[in-house]
Amino acid sequence: MVRNVAGLLPELETEDFYLLSGVEQGMRFSEWVQREKLPNFSGLTPEEVDYRLERCLKRGFIEKKTIQYEGYTLKFEGYDLLALNALVERDAIAEFGSPLGVGKESDVYEVKSYKPLALKYHREGYTNFREVNKERDYTSDKQHVSWMYTARKAAEREYETLEELYPDVAVPRPIEQNRHAIVMDKMPGVELSRSKLEDEQVVGVLDLLLRELTHAYEIGFVHADMSEYNIFVSEEGVTIFDWPQAVPTDHENADEFLRRDLTNLIGYFRRKYPRTVPDCEVEDVANAIADGSFETLDAHAT
Ligand SMILES: Nc1ncnc2c1ncn2[C@@H]1O[C@H](COP(=O)(O)OP(=O)(O)OP(=O)(O)O)[C@@H](O)[C@H]1O
Ligand SMILES: [Mg+2]
Repeated sequence: MVRNVAGLLPELETEDFYLLSGVEQGMRFSEWVQREKLPNFSGLTPEEVDYRLERCLKRGFIEKKTIQYEGYTLKFEGYDLLALNALVERDAIAEFGSPLGVGKESDVYEVKSYKPLALKYHREGYTNFREVNKERDYTSDKQHVSWMYTARKAAEREYETLEELYPDVAVPRPIEQNRHAIVMDKMPGVELSRSKLEDEQVVGVLDLLLRELTHAYEIGFVHADMSEYNIFVSEEGVTIFDWPQAVPTDHENADEFLRRDLTNLIGYFRRKYPRTVPDCEVEDVANAIADGSFETLDAHAT
């Protein structure tokens, strides 16, 4: 797990961020950045680099390795700090709060500016990164370090998708993105998986969700990871979140992903509320969503 570094922000100085971003710059060329190159990348004097390296090593933001040369690389903690600092400077975040969800693919924390928000750090390359790291040829020059690239790409994809979908689809409002982090509105409610709907609400909520998926399809996206864990329900309605893997509707497998999303979602409702949810052909519902004509599940009951 990646440590939460937000608490360390107050004790850090501008030059610490210059050093971290110098290491980040150097990592565009090789995973382990040569010490001698750091003054150039960071804009700090060699003496200042020595001092900042010590501070950042001690706090676990970077790692050091001596192979053919003395090299430094960012840890996820250092990358988190760079993103966090940028978001604070842009006034997207004023206060840091407690975890909202900590998983294998992401860490989500409550943050505040003028209202409660959520900060999601993408961790897509994390597991992979630890395995790959053991066997990698450290000296080979790389275009990019894969965990950093993977996590940043996922955040960019998710943010762009949210921007396209909001506000026509019930998704968290996107606010800012930096590196592998995105800031969005904090959703009200609880995960669908943890909710117990009243009998008379069940079909209405499912219809609402299917209409949201219809709007998303109209705008050009299939979620592609639909489940009871990526939906929040509250008094105010539903929110569908976690969009980094969404595919455009002109993707060759888009309709297959749509059918899988529907199988998951309708299947979940049917298992949990067998007496309330009508049996239906997923194929039929998928066609109705794809041609924009979906209104109620009842119309497709078998
Ligand atoms: N905008 C938000 N507001 C409130 N809570 C959120 C928000 N975004 C995410 N969360 C919480 O964080 C959890 C993980 O978020 P998300 O599903 O986007 O990431 P994930 O990549 O699926 O993570 P995991 O690997 O844990 O499945 C969610 O289940 C939810 O509880
Ligand atoms: Mg999720």
